[in-house]
Amino acid sequence: MRICFRATMTFTKTATQIKKSALNELAKTRDINTLAFWRKEYLGKVGKFTKLTRQIAQLPAKERASAGKAVNELKQALAKALQEREKQFHELPPSPVSRSQLSTFFDLTAPGADFQLGHLHPITQMRQYAEDIFVRMGFEVFEAREVDDDYHNFESLNMPPQHPARDLWDTFWTEDELVLITHTSSMQHRILLGQKPPIRAIIVGRCFRHEATDASHEHTLNQIEGLYVDKGIKLPDLIGTFKKFLDEFSQRDIKMKIQPSHFPFVEPGIEFLLDCAICFGTGEVEGERCSTCGGSGWLELAGAGMVHPSVLAEAGLDPQKYSGFAWGFGLDRLVMVKYGIENIRHFYSGDLRFIRQF
Ligand code: FA5
Repeated sequence: MRICFRATMTFTKTATQIKKSALNELAKTRDINTLAFWRKEYLGKVGKFTKLTRQIAQLPAKERASAGKAVNELKQALAKALQEREKQFHELPPSPVSRSQLSTFFDLTAPGADFQLGHLHPITQMRQYAEDIFVRMGFEVFEAREVDDDYHNFESLNMPPQHPARDLWDTFWTEDELVLITHTSSMQHRILLGQKPPIRAIIVGRCFRHEATDASHEHTLNQIEGLYVDKGIKLPDLIGTFKKFLDEFSQRDIKMKIQPSHFPFVEPGIEFLLDCAICFGTGEVEGERCSTCGGSGWLELAGAGMVHPSVLAEAGLDPQKYSGFAWGFGLDRLVMVKYGIENIRHFYSGDLRFIRQF
């Protein structure tokens, strides 16, 4: 009996010591690595707790139950303490950081805060898209000067000073009498000059106009000019090329209307109009006049025509030998039709809710 009593006493004492040192050392663990060592030392296969458990078998049979109970309590206490410590490590940043350092702690490994990536403006995206199509069709791409002189914007295009057609475009001037280009046709003379046909050029650029803005008019607009000069070029070449581009660009069969027009630098002159994407050509939206197309059901997209003989001659090309076509379309309006945008002013409104859709 005495032996048994002593053995049980020793067992209980050892269990208490293990518990004390285990909790002590657990409190000293600094991170999940040191915690792993602790777990091995106490709860591992040859750990202190496991060894203690094995000793139960050596106790007298009637003492084993209480020893087993003590071991279970110890196991539960250690498991609970371990769980809490683990939780602390998961809540805290990785070591070696003391709690007092926490306010200044910077965790290099923590995932960064999400930030919004920007992207190209829809007009820039669509300009590149259009350029790619034209390059595949054999055109060379040029960029228009934003500020140019009177000669290139007007005179070389059959619009001498005082020509009434200037009223349509005669807008912003610098103090040294340069003009903010009103159309990309301002590059026609430079491209034709000194070149031997065939000439296949696309001119992209921002143009500026003194406009009372509305749903389809802006003071700053983007144009894409086409210029094709060679022997035997005719009006159907212009229409076929332009239609081919439109189909490629919009990826659908767009309804297009052609009507006569006048520009001093082409003869004959025409206009391309597209089916309004907002009212689908009806001119009305919910019983009201469609503000995008002004109720006409059509949106004017481009001015075009056969390059005027005097424009060719001015650039040193013989109009008897060569002929050509040209167009200038509003890229902003084409993008409006492609995406069903009802107001051109969205493009430069700075409203990110609009821009992020592209
Ligand atoms: C011209 O600018 C001529 N240079 C086009 C041309 C080129 C004719 C070559 C013949 C040969 P117009 O002013 O119509 O033409 O403008 C052409 C297109 O630019 C218009 O059809 C329209 O799509 C767009 N546009 C014109 N003004 C504005 C504006 N204020 N806001 C938005 N787009 C506009």
